[in-house]
Amino acid sequence: MPETRSRVGLHVNGGRHELDVDHRVTLLDLLREHLGLTGAKKGCDHGQCGACTVLVDGRRANSCLLLAVAHDGARVTTVEGLGGDGTGGLHPLQEAFMERDAFQCGYCTPGQLCSAAGLLAEAAADPGAADLSRSGIAEAMSGNLCRCGAYPRIVDAVQDVAAMSRADAPVRARAQAPGDGRVGA
Ligand code: FES
Ligand code: FES
Repeated sequence: MPETRSRVGLHVNGGRHELDVDHRVTLLDLLREHLGLTGAKKGCDHGQCGACTVLVDGRRANSCLLLAVAHDGARVTTVEGLGGDGTGGLHPLQEAFMERDAFQCGYCTPGQLCSAAGLLAEAAADPGAADLSRSGIAEAMSGNLCRCGAYPRIVDAVQDVAAMSRADAPVRARAQAPGDGRVGA
């Protein structure tokens, strides 16, 4: 009888979890059913809608397509952890989505937020390759479907945060320059 379960360790939203999981369990089901993190949604369960998007080791991923057992040791961020500091604060994208009214039913929103966060991280890592024009954002987030058609406002919100990030960049660069007095920055 082949072994069908394995021990898996994951860092989820900054916390470490050790679970005994069936090899067929997807990362999405692990998050929702085993850890009670229901932010990531199950839309199609086939990699077609993006509702299940989370960040895995900082990169956008459709969690319905990933087997949890194959991601032992991974760092996963869901919409619940996007704020990052554990105090329940909102990520700038979450604030921008509210400001821009970038949702209706909200079913796709957690995936849109994680996808947008991943996109902005990709742009920060390689500014020369980033296309944060309206069409560029639409293309880069084309894997995230919105049945309510909130796309124009989603793009508005992402552009707002991209502009904030650009405005902050010189300040951050100065703050992180050698000799700013911080150790290990
Ligand atoms: S639920 Fe994963 S892509 Fe649709
Ligand atoms: S806000 Fe309803 S599916 Fe996007």
